[in-house]
Amino acid sequence: MVSRVIPVDPFDLVIFGATGDLARRKILPGLYRRFLDGQMPPEARVIGAARSAMETPAFREEVRAAIDEFVAPARQDATRIAEFLDRLHYVPIDAKGDTGWPELAAQMRPGHVQAFYFSVAPSLFGALAERLHRHGIAGSEARIVVEKPFGRDLATAQDLNRTLAAHFEERQIYRIDHYLGKETVQNLMAVRFANILFEPLWNAQFVDHVQITVAETVGVDGRGAYYDTSGAMRDMVQNHLMQLLCLIAMEPPYCFEPDAVRDEKLKVIRALDPVDPGDIVRGQYRGTGPDDGYLDHAGNPDSRTESYVALKVHVSNWRWKGTPFYLRTGKRLRARTSEIAVVFKEPPHSIFGEAERWRENVLAIRLQPNEGMNMTVMIKEPGPGGMRLTEVPLDMSFAEALGESGTDIPDAYERLIMDVIRGNQTLFMRGDEVEAAWAWTDPVIAAWESRGDRPKPYDAGSSGPEDALMLLHRDGRRWREIRA
Ligand code: BG6
Repeated sequence: MVSRVIPVDPFDLVIFGATGDLARRKILPGLYRRFLDGQMPPEARVIGAARSAMETPAFREEVRAAIDEFVAPARQDATRIAEFLDRLHYVPIDAKGDTGWPELAAQMRPGHVQAFYFSVAPSLFGALAERLHRHGIAGSEARIVVEKPFGRDLATAQDLNRTLAAHFEERQIYRIDHYLGKETVQNLMAVRFANILFEPLWNAQFVDHVQITVAETVGVDGRGAYYDTSGAMRDMVQNHLMQLLCLIAMEPPYCFEPDAVRDEKLKVIRALDPVDPGDIVRGQYRGTGPDDGYLDHAGNPDSRTESYVALKVHVSNWRWKGTPFYLRTGKRLRARTSEIAVVFKEPPHSIFGEAERWRENVLAIRLQPNEGMNMTVMIKEPGPGGMRLTEVPLDMSFAEALGESGTDIPDAYERLIMDVIRGNQTLFMRGDEVEAAWAWTDPVIAAWESRGDRPKPYDAGSSGPEDALMLLHRDGRRWREIRA
């Protein structure tokens, strides 16, 4: 099956912070891949803007090096790279001063879609937004793209929203949560709302519980100082895991339009119960060698920041009352794996007798690696010997099922940037969603901070702190294994 690539309208994409890590690793290599697939029209231009005094040719060389490092060798083609680099321009700019702005204005082409990617610290958002207007650069249809961290609590998120709203309308603001750009995350919506099969069972009557796991093998090395001011709750739960929870728990939107989808997600966030302090486990990894533990990486021997968090969450509405959602995420765990598992209840009555223990039906949606879905069902064990039951997986790997188009899945950033150019906000967070997520997160964090709780240590390479196992055990349940 060959995927369809639909070119977008001609655009000028300005990347503020174009020499930074995100631009080098994700944004620019992603744009090259979109170019290679024919999605960038010939007139499209990418304008890098950053503090460094540099000319366009030097910027192009930096981008060439980034492509070399972050694009798979099979997709590197010298001629095509050169053609892509021709579309890149660079303007040295002072975000808080006036240098560079007239030059940037001169780069913009009339009639092009205008997009401004703020790949910079949130403290610069206001200065950039204000100058884009003062210098007459951003038109009324211009779009701005902002990245997390979108605040560190409700008050700072509200401040940021106000700052942006002073210069741009909500329809112009694209808040990226890159989890929403992941193929399987969108597939969640397809699975739920394009099949009759699941939706009738998708409620507390049939679903025993849901597990959402985002496990990473990487530590916080290299970004310890920043991470230590954040922790897993702010870094992952408030945004990525919350978005996954919303997509699993939301009601069917009346159509696949940005606000229809985002209205339903917002209702889920608002329906979240406050979390009981006994339903939270925080952890901090111990190293496997000297200078390799969280405390070494954070550069703070007394840090109480969590690199792991597991929690039980309740969505208080008719659909979900009584079905817990267990969320966990952590660094330096046994394997890199992200999945959502919907664990169904037992059938009301077993006709096969007590000896034939029923095992639960589980629909597992794998986000990474090996995107796909797996459903465990009970069948008769083959052969003579009476009716014995066994559990088998109905396994669908997207790579196997879809062939080439299942393996060549665009990176989340590529898809999201193209959505910005198309003007489609469905996969971006609305301001009220972000604020509602913080309003739920803030008291959880405040509670453990006021108690001065220390996170529980766990070994790097393990599946997290022991107490996290207890969180499910005491409910008569168990976590799914963390494995690649
Ligand atoms: C980022 C977090 O938003 O997501 C990182 O700040 C985390 O700490 C990353 O490692 C995980 O993203 P992915 O796409 O690798 O699962």
